[in-house]
Amino acid sequence: MTRTPLIIDCDPGVDDAVALMLAFGSSDLELLAITAVGGNVPVVKTARNARILRQIAGREDVPVFMGADRPLRREPAGAGEFHGAEGLGDMAPFEPAAPCADGHAADAIIALVMGRPAKFVALAVLGPLTNLALALRKEPALAERLGPVAVMGGARSEGGNITASAEFNFWADPDAAAEVLATGCDVVLFGLDATHQVRATTARISALEAVGTPMAEAAASMMRFSQRVEREIVGWDAPPVHDPCPVAWLLKPDLFKLKACRIAVETESDLTRGHTAVEFREAVAGEPLRHRWARDVDADGIFDLITKAVS
Ligand code: BDR
Ligand code: CA
Repeated sequence: MTRTPLIIDCDPGVDDAVALMLAFGSSDLELLAITAVGGNVPVVKTARNARILRQIAGREDVPVFMGADRPLRREPAGAGEFHGAEGLGDMAPFEPAAPCADGHAADAIIALVMGRPAKFVALAVLGPLTNLALALRKEPALAERLGPVAVMGGARSEGGNITASAEFNFWADPDAAAEVLATGCDVVLFGLDATHQVRATTARISALEAVGTPMAEAAASMMRFSQRVEREIVGWDAPPVHDPCPVAWLLKPDLFKLKACRIAVETESDLTRGHTAVEFREAVAGEPLRHRWARDVDADGIFDLITKAVS
């Protein structure tokens, strides 16, 4: 069976960490690189965390590139209250054995995608879209060359998680999100409408813990931390596990129901910064519905994939 060549752009981040464990342990993926962006914590920490996680998974064959340390035209925000000051929840960070690969994440994305056939390499974006926007500015042909771009970001019926209407990744760098969506990239968006269906219940976390491998323990520790902080901050007993969704879709598309749409992002208003306007009506959209929006999710199916990967 041919494996899906994949680059993961992320800001670990406790749920990014679970997504990375899912990818590291999935033999159906050919993981070409991890590119780190500043988001939940600054980029020096997200790049270090990606290297810590690959070391735990024994996947030092996957290069980690450091990328943007700030959004295109905003101050860096951060979401340390949901991820811990170091980004990995209760896990104590350490200096990983292997360094970052040379070069900027945006250049790495360009080189890895442009050096392969069209539509060959998939990209999962699990943080603010700054690295991809920078890559597209530098190499506009990237948009048509990329395979599916599976993005965790945006919100519609669920409302936001950072403001009333905006999801964190789109709020943190709305300009990058707007730029990416305006290109010809084949964007599939896994927003809060989908990811809020994927909850780390106590039973699911315990089942992961029972697997007992270092990867399983790491994934379960991220979820336990999320459970604690989401209880404190939002009052939820079972926290949403956002970032594994795009990776799970690349592995098993039938876990999700998608709907064609055209998405625009608010970049000007302070009140609704990062809001995703999702238009499903082709007749009034004024252009073809070339984005896709994830709606229904098989959450048990996603946890089965995670459990298998960390086993
Ligand atoms: C997204 O924001 C980040 O805090 C998470 O890692 C996830 O990518 C959820 O809104
Ligand atoms: Ca993330």
